[in-house]
Amino acid sequence: MDRKPVIFSGIQPTGTFTLGNYMGAIKNWVKLQDDYRCVYSVVDLHSVTIRQEPKILRENTMRAYALLLACGVDPEKSVLFVQSHVPTHAEAAWLLGCYTPYGELGRMTQFKDKSAAHSENINAGLFTYPVLQIADILLYNASLVPVGEDQRQHLELSRNTAIRFNGIYGDTFVVPEPYIQKEGGKIMSLQEPAKKMSKSDATPKAYISVLDPPDTMIKKFKSAVTDSGTDVAYRPGKDGVNNLITIYGLITGKTIEETEAEFKGKGYGDFKLAVGEAVANHLKPVQDEYYRLMDDRAYLEACWKQGAEKAFAISSRTLEKARKKVGLLKR
Ligand code: TYM
Repeated sequence: MDRKPVIFSGIQPTGTFTLGNYMGAIKNWVKLQDDYRCVYSVVDLHSVTIRQEPKILRENTMRAYALLLACGVDPEKSVLFVQSHVPTHAEAAWLLGCYTPYGELGRMTQFKDKSAAHSENINAGLFTYPVLQIADILLYNASLVPVGEDQRQHLELSRNTAIRFNGIYGDTFVVPEPYIQKEGGKIMSLQEPAKKMSKSDATPKAYISVLDPPDTMIKKFKSAVTDSGTDVAYRPGKDGVNNLITIYGLITGKTIEETEAEFKGKGYGDFKLAVGEAVANHLKPVQDEYYRLMDDRAYLEACWKQGAEKAFAISSRTLEKARKKVGLLKR
């Protein structure tokens, strides 16, 4: 039997994927596929905590699925599914919600931020959002969860709930660890480099979409906010330049020192152009593959159907175990 540890991660199908999603999460999802049993999900149920246009949500879910494949998630190696296609998640979320204190949920910064941004619709789902995330992770007995820095608090909550449940009923769930890279765990906005890059930013210039045409990407990098200096050097407080050095390093594999040496004596202008070109060249094959897949709806459907079947088989076993421990009558 295959004894490799399990990885789980998810991404919301809202709008586009940013370079932050790609660097912070997806790149690692792809990298980890050979050494772990990986389970990845397009978490559409999480997205309905914010009001969505139904037609656009459907379209975005399909796009997100195709884009993950195009980025290199391999359905032969990993399980890739749409969250709402696997009903165990919602059921497990109910159970696990009964083991997650109200007070801990109220402390989640994402809940506070999202309720401030959507004050007209602070629904119960927005509050219990992290419980569904806990269900996602625990159902697969994932020991590692590759995410960006902004998910650290949700991961801590997942650990607490797993430990609490195991404490009451004996070992049931694997207690997950976050897998957050030091470089790339938090890619910053190109316009306000003290803030993380986010697809919900009102200014499209602030983020790179993985699907931006190459010349748009280059333009956005050219207008990235830096400081009044000229040296391409990684220094505390120089968030804008530091962010670009990080992105350049992640794409080219160059260390900070190598990047500094490469651009010694050149200005920010040359550097920004080089970063833009490197990112655009790197993402071009991803874009080509994405558009090819979007023309092959039958393949996509077959893929997510198979992914959902596999995910259901794994997650049902864990859910059954938890149901039994809690005292629910066998169905
Ligand atoms: P989501 O859809 O907001 O983001 C997907 C992934 O991208 C990472 N990320 C970033 N990384 C670096 N720099 C950035 N600027 C940046 N912006 C986003 C996120 O940290 C995330 O890893 N709640 C999750 C989805 C989720 C999930 C899960 C994740 C649902 N269930 C179970 C892990 C395990 C979310 O909203 O991610």
